[in-house]
Amino acid sequence: MSVTTLGSRSSPVRRRPAIAAAPAAATPAEPVRARAVRRGDLEQVIALDATVTGVEKRTYWQRVFRRYGQPGKEQRQFLVAVRGADVLGFLIGEVRDWEFGSPPCGWIFAIDVDPAARQSGTGTLLFDTACATFRRWGVDKLRTLLSRENTLILSFFRSQGMMAGPLIPLEMDLP
Ligand SMILES: CC(C)(COP(=O)(O)OP(=O)(O)OC[C@H]1O[C@@H](n2cnc3c(N)ncnc32)[C@H](O)[C@@H]1OP(=O)(O)O)[C@@H](O)C(=O)NCCC(=O)NCCS
Repeated sequence: MSVTTLGSRSSPVRRRPAIAAAPAAATPAEPVRARAVRRGDLEQVIALDATVTGVEKRTYWQRVFRRYGQPGKEQRQFLVAVRGADVLGFLIGEVRDWEFGSPPCGWIFAIDVDPAARQSGTGTLLFDTACATFRRWGVDKLRTLLSRENTLILSFFRSQGMMAGPLIPLEMDLP
């Protein structure tokens, strides 16, 4: 997996209070890069998700790492945006083949940027990196699902060019 760097949109990003056991010091001038997750990033990913959602889901994240984060996982991507050893954000996605009759397309099902690092292009860097990989894998359609109440994530995906699609979600409570 290649490394993508946050270019001209890069602006000083406030360092989050230590969310990892002991992140290596990073110089403020260091660029933000997007790359495949490594096992050593996992604690910071778990902490970031807990910060954003208010729930720590260690077992879940270990399972996600096994499924999406190990090298050689075809059609699955688990990216992190890092400055030095500090994880500023992550994105997880995969190609889904012929779901509900739809030709293979890329799905993004998780994206989070550290609240202290937002609005500096980090989310866009992750999104662009994921899209480039999906393209390389031969898909030309991207999908995601989001909560109606989450206007922030809606604004972000709209800013990237995503629009309402032809599929609708249905759900019910199981007896
Ligand atoms: C959505 C999110 C990933 C955006 O990350 P980011 O690094 O701030 O994104 P960027 O800086 O690349 O912003 C890109 C565009 O998104 C939109 N955007 C970002 N933050 C916004 C805000 N607070 N309000 C409105 N639009 C916003 C803007 O259009 C922005 O473009 P601009 O900078 O030219 O205005 C980040 O806010 C986040 O992690 N939010 C919580 C995500 C979440 O709820 N995850 C759970 C579901 S998976």
